[in-house]
Amino acid sequence: MKKIYEMSLSERIKFLEKEIGFDLGKKLKKNLKISEAEKLVENVICLYPLPLGIATNFIVNGKKVYVPMVIEESSVIAAASNGAKYASYSGGFKASFSKNITVGQIQLVSKNPKKTIKKILSKKSELLEEINRISENMVKRGGGAKNLEAKNFGKHVVVYIFYDTVDAMGANTINTICEKIAPVLSDITGCEYRLRIISNYAIEKIAKSEAIFKKEHVGKDVINGILDAYELAKLDVRRAVTHNKGIMNGIDAVAIATGQDWRAIEAGAHAYACRNGRYQPLTNWEKNKNGDLVGRIEVPLQIGTVGGIINIHPIAKISLEIMKVKKVNELAEIMASVGLANNFAALRALVSEGIQRGHMKLHAINYALSVGAGNLAKEVAKIMIEKNDISMESAKRILRELKKRY
Ligand code: MEV
Repeated sequence: MKKIYEMSLSERIKFLEKEIGFDLGKKLKKNLKISEAEKLVENVICLYPLPLGIATNFIVNGKKVYVPMVIEESSVIAAASNGAKYASYSGGFKASFSKNITVGQIQLVSKNPKKTIKKILSKKSELLEEINRISENMVKRGGGAKNLEAKNFGKHVVVYIFYDTVDAMGANTINTICEKIAPVLSDITGCEYRLRIISNYAIEKIAKSEAIFKKEHVGKDVINGILDAYELAKLDVRRAVTHNKGIMNGIDAVAIATGQDWRAIEAGAHAYACRNGRYQPLTNWEKNKNGDLVGRIEVPLQIGTVGGIINIHPIAKISLEIMKVKKVNELAEIMASVGLANNFAALRALVSEGIQRGHMKLHAINYALSVGAGNLAKEVAKIMIEKNDISMESAKRILRELKKRY
């Protein structure tokens, strides 16, 4: 049986059709249309395609899952699959997600902030009822206002609304609520309002995942190397950012495949990395008593499985179908696991053979294709790898030689 990366495109789609049990090939023909894109953003002139690949070997909370990833960078999908393979030897990833509480904030400008806060808090239950009244559709779906807090930063009184947006990312819902409730707050307090917007510091939407990477598969030296690399990431912010970038390679790629607002995810993740006052790795690595490597990730994920672009972009919908994901927690659990898998694979490669070897193999194909090798691309790439000379010049030279031969 061929590995998925050894299959041709049509073999790969047929294989996945069998695995996931629906007509993927037919569905994938229905991509975003330009007329739909024009409804999404302004001044559209074309579509901008990116590759969508499938990461394999993922077992998340006991369920096998094929993970769609959209990314332009070579090796990220391979790295995710590789990390997941190591985790699968000990049963895969155990993951969880907190409640999907979206937070909105309304800024009031007050001459007497303490008094303003007191007035707001004295009307808390009426305000929560009013918020639920103006968002009754979300309440019908099981969501709604959970809490309201007020705090001041000098003259700025900020009212935070904590709202369960069920399976939606919730930006539209909470922004509408903030805009509608701000005048009510003005009436109660006599203060003028300013900002009325979601907070992307989504610390009420925390995804966690952990996995054990066994010493007999990873090797003792590599485990020690990974622990040293992790220690450096905790000490050196220059390394920590790159460490987290590798994690976000995986998380963002699933985010794009499933139509998420990846800027919100990025903003939240990096702020969370600073929650203790210093920028830190989003993962944690340690050895257990057997000497195996245990990896954990904790990251805020502002995501949704309904609403937004998911209703418009056919591929976003298909990506969720491939993973058989309906609920936001299921998606968050997979995304956190992918981040952890990517981090493991990057660290493993960095402390052993380095990342360039795997990277360069795909680069070789890219060079071959970009010098016009067409169906000779694989052969050109193979020769470059054998000669350990991977460059545009080398691709041109080898192509010239091959063309003379054929
Ligand atoms: C490259 O996209 C990601 C890495 O730099 C991550 C890391 O260094 O941990 C390989």
